[in-house]
Amino acid sequence: MQDLRKLINKDKLPKHVAVIMDGNGRWAKSRGEERTFGHRNAINAVRNVINACNEIHIPYLTLYTFSSENWNRPKDEVDTLMSLLSETLLLEAEEIFTKGLRMHVVGDISQLPDLVRDQLINVIELTKDNKNGNLILALNYGSQKEILKAVKEISQDVKEGKIDVDDIDEKIFQDHLYTKYFPEVDLMIRTSGEVRISNFLLWQIAYAELQFLDVLWPDFTKDTFFQCIIDYQNKERRYGKTSEQLIP
Ligand code: IPE
Ligand code: IPE
Ligand code: MG
Repeated sequence: MQDLRKLINKDKLPKHVAVIMDGNGRWAKSRGEERTFGHRNAINAVRNVINACNEIHIPYLTLYTFSSENWNRPKDEVDTLMSLLSETLLLEAEEIFTKGLRMHVVGDISQLPDLVRDQLINVIELTKDNKNGNLILALNYGSQKEILKAVKEISQDVKEGKIDVDDIDEKIFQDHLYTKYFPEVDLMIRTSGEVRISNFLLWQIAYAELQFLDVLWPDFTKDTFFQCIIDYQNKERRYGKTSEQLIP
């Protein structure tokens, strides 16, 4: 079998990849199983994407793990997702640490079950000096809420005379987002065949390449990821310019 990694140009890697890990329920249903069976089988795919990023040295990976809208699912399913998260953090913390990854969270973690929040804080603390890459979990994350939070904080600063309305620019806005320490997203991947963003990183994907795959999340392999990187590298990112302007 061909090693897809050999086709990847090390000088043209995306700095920040974001993934909407979708399709667990359909994966389970197609096997005549409960939706939660799909969530259990999703963990291997999470390992695959983390390892693939680590192998080719992509410095920032953001995984959409639980949206602010996912609370609207049946209580049983939400409970299973939270238990799985807790189990996985417990099992994988050491591996994340050993790989030299630093973990971060974006989203409002104050509403997560106490146990999950404490475990997250522990792994964030444990890995805070790691330098091999950044693993960012989007948990209870919703982009519109994040943008409103930024607007409110900036409005307060204006009200208190800390900044002038005319000073508000992209940089100041970005500094009020959960993602303030991370570069903009270069590549966003969504599995499951749905072509939508579902309230994920709306500001941060302004110039991202978007890939929508007909793969259900539990079937996502390292090769699926490497192929995404190859496809990304075949795109010309023009940022409003013409093709001719980009020729050095
Ligand atoms: C993604 O898979 C997992 C989460 C949103 C937590 P889904 O559970 O949304 O699976 P589908 O989209 O129903 O198939
Ligand atoms: C988006 O998937 C959220 C995560 C992957 C965590 P959903 O399955 O919740 O999105 P919609 O509801 O189909 O748009
Ligand atoms: Mg879904």
